Amino acid sequence: MFKITDVRCEYKVNPIGLGIPHPRISWKLESDQRGTRQLAYQIVVSADEPGDEVLWDSGKVMSDASIQIELDSMTCESGKRYYYRVRAWNEQEECTAWSDTAYWEMGLLSPQEWEGEWIQAPGVAGLETDQCPMLRRSFRIEGKVKSARIYATALGLYELKLNGRKVGDSYFNPGWTSYHERLQYQTYDVTNLLQTGENVIGTFLGTGWYKGHLAWEGLHSIYGDQLALLLQMHVELENGERLTIVSDGEWKAAGSPILMSEIYHGENYDARLEQAGWSEAGFNDRDGWHPVEILSHSKDILVAQESDPVRIVNELKPVELMKTPKGELVIDMGQNMVGWVRLEVEGDAGKEVMLEHAEVLDREGNFYIGNLRKAKQTIRYTLKGKGVEAYEPHFTFQGFRYVKLTGFDESKVRLEQFKGMVLHSDMERTGYFECSDPLINQLQHNIEWGLKGNFLDVPTDCPQRDERLGWTGDAQMFIRTAAYLHGTVDFFTKWLRDLAADQLYNGGVPFVIPNVLGKKGGEEFKDQHSSAAWGDAAVINPWTIYLVYGDKRLLAEQYDSMKAWVEYIRSQGENEFLWNTGFHFGDWLALDAKENSYVGATDRDYIATAFYAYSVSLVLKAAEVLNKVDDAEKYAELYRNVRKAFQDEFVTPSGRLAVGTQTAQVLALMFGLVEGPAKERTTRKLIELLEESDYHLTTGFVGTPYLNFVLSDNGYNDIAYKLLFQQDYPSWLYQVTKGATTIWEHWDGIKEDGTFWSDDMNSFNHYAYGAIGDWLYRVVAGIDLDETVPAYKRIVIKPQPGEGLHWADGRLESMYGMIRSAWHKLDDGKLRLDVTVPVNTTAEILLPAASDESQVTESGKPLNQAEGIEKVETVEQGIRVTIGSGSYTFEFAQVK
Ligand code: BGC
Repeated sequence: MFKITDVRCEYKVNPIGLGIPHPRISWKLESDQRGTRQLAYQIVVSADEPGDEVLWDSGKVMSDASIQIELDSMTCESGKRYYYRVRAWNEQEECTAWSDTAYWEMGLLSPQEWEGEWIQAPGVAGLETDQCPMLRRSFRIEGKVKSARIYATALGLYELKLNGRKVGDSYFNPGWTSYHERLQYQTYDVTNLLQTGENVIGTFLGTGWYKGHLAWEGLHSIYGDQLALLLQMHVELENGERLTIVSDGEWKAAGSPILMSEIYHGENYDARLEQAGWSEAGFNDRDGWHPVEILSHSKDILVAQESDPVRIVNELKPVELMKTPKGELVIDMGQNMVGWVRLEVEGDAGKEVMLEHAEVLDREGNFYIGNLRKAKQTIRYTLKGKGVEAYEPHFTFQGFRYVKLTGFDESKVRLEQFKGMVLHSDMERTGYFECSDPLINQLQHNIEWGLKGNFLDVPTDCPQRDERLGWTGDAQMFIRTAAYLHGTVDFFTKWLRDLAADQLYNGGVPFVIPNVLGKKGGEEFKDQHSSAAWGDAAVINPWTIYLVYGDKRLLAEQYDSMKAWVEYIRSQGENEFLWNTGFHFGDWLALDAKENSYVGATDRDYIATAFYAYSVSLVLKAAEVLNKVDDAEKYAELYRNVRKAFQDEFVTPSGRLAVGTQTAQVLALMFGLVEGPAKERTTRKLIELLEESDYHLTTGFVGTPYLNFVLSDNGYNDIAYKLLFQQDYPSWLYQVTKGATTIWEHWDGIKEDGTFWSDDMNSFNHYAYGAIGDWLYRVVAGIDLDETVPAYKRIVIKPQPGEGLHWADGRLESMYGMIRSAWHKLDDGKLRLDVTVPVNTTAEILLPAASDESQVTESGKPLNQAEGIEKVETVEQGIRVTIGSGSYTFEFAQVK
């Protein structure tokens, strides 16, 4: 058996609305033979599904490439659908059957194709200040519809309806981008929503990130203060006729029942203002509806949807209805989540119910919203009084586990009236990790939910307080963990394009992307940008995406931005190789900080120069990958100089680091800035520091993601495990033992005595410290990649079992297929390692601490009789086996 599965275009199964002129095709292969590799492939593109009208045929291409095949010699037309099939040959010249026919469809490729106008509710519509408008347009279709598409976007957020039904299943459209530079539009297939005769399209508009409140200091209307819609619908009838409906002066506007809807603050909804049938045929829009106004706004900024749409991904049932000591009526969702509550309620017209949202209860068990700062997270719903009313908010989301109920009849309220709708960018789940310890499994769960809560269209620091911004540092720290758990390539592609768009003329990188700080009179961060370890997201993130998905095109696209960042740094220091100036967040929230400071003790110039060296090393690698020979030479030299400057400044002649913190030792080791005796000394110093703190970390945002890696890499895997298993403060499991269901911002968000760290900055859903996930997957489970052959084409399986775990099991759905590495300690003292390697890849497996090749078995046979084994070598850390695709079970004794 040799077959082709999961053919995709631009990472997606049958995408529509693509804005990429030369899309890329990828597929996976399956075989019942071990060691199967692709020898050749053929892609055929046709204009029709049966494949009669062939537009492009690659012919048999002798190549083992099965991902990211760019159709660079095809020119794709706007709005057109293309069908394609793939087949492949293996090295035995066996050919797969043709894949199922798949398709992609282009969006509107040029701004000139937008025929409509930006439209907005007119002043005369009499909207209350915060009231969301609704817009509608009726039109007729005479004949049977063959196909129909809507292309739509908004200044603000929009929710579309066609003939009374929601268009699409996504929310928070058009998403958040650097709106002045780039604004996404969405494409919807609405063929099945249309009817012969009168049709009605309607929309609500909300303030969202465009006009709503963002950041602090009462900032709002950062991008603009007019909400507007731009829409184009293409209808093709069975009789060949075509119809285009656009946003234009024919539309009418009125006030909606949404009296206020704000990302941070929640929503006020008065169901009595609902106009039944307003987005359906037969509605009378003469009373209270006014012609829209045309707004002049650029269309040149329009880009097709790039990232995964935000959808309702889970639905949670609350676990408990409780009465707090203060007498508050509160429901517990059992999980700190992000999204909203779907509510069912019954009562008299005009009665108001209120839902307030909180992440935690206080020490006494009362409802606590101190850490939300100015974010209100409150839903007010006024009943229309007609039986059971179901309601969900529109343009707001809440970060919460507990919901305080006001206005409900205590004796009647039931848990079944409430459902937690979890929303985030709907990225495919790709990675799994499980092990024998329930607390570590809960930690893994918390990491996953930290991601779910903070990947709502942009990577945010937190989802609850008046912040929820795309902090670059946090995104940099967590990206590799995220790219294991979910398919994050589209999500970060969009965000990195915004990073490049918002990057300063001199290469500086704003603290948050999209950049809203220091804008419109936001004083706190005026003219501030470019902190070490934050701005480095410009380099680390595209490089990580390249490694994990082999996305060379994104790397090429971001290359100038990457370079601009290191050139910015070069221009900052007192000399060009040392970054010792400017503002930095430092080792944010480290525990060696001074009293009342957020900034850890590690010298800021030290961190800045260490990250400078690291970023230059990555730009150098990118230059090599992209074949930029001159740049590669230039950055190789810069790297040597920065590394030397770092050593001259921070490493004493006898090899001691001038900065004596845990984070300082970690960075020098992680970034390869010390060697020989200095490296040994640095390692020893780190161990000493850990001993002094009784094996507890003091690291903050900057040091923590790397701490366990440097321990495992430098012969102290046992200490890495010790840190992982600590349950008292400060440790990853401390919060788990305190009942956390997401990752906390602070090691002591809730202290031993049950009090809070503080009110002003205490998120219980902050993914940064969840970066330990990367170590769990790459070191504990042991699934890694060879950087020289990205996207796991050459897999490195190198598990490092340790004290406290009997087994660990990691799985990753890579671009080539499922990779698995699972180990078990057996009763006879041996280790069993189950490995799965996808077709068309190879893997280098390290059997840790195995010493005698003749004692190793694979599926019960001696190694030298097992199939698919390409090479066996004895190395310092064990036995290295190189294998081709297939599933393998190794068993071996470990030397102590
Ligand atoms: C955010 C952090 C961010 C930091 C900058 C905070 O307010 O929540 O996660 O990285 O500011 O140091």
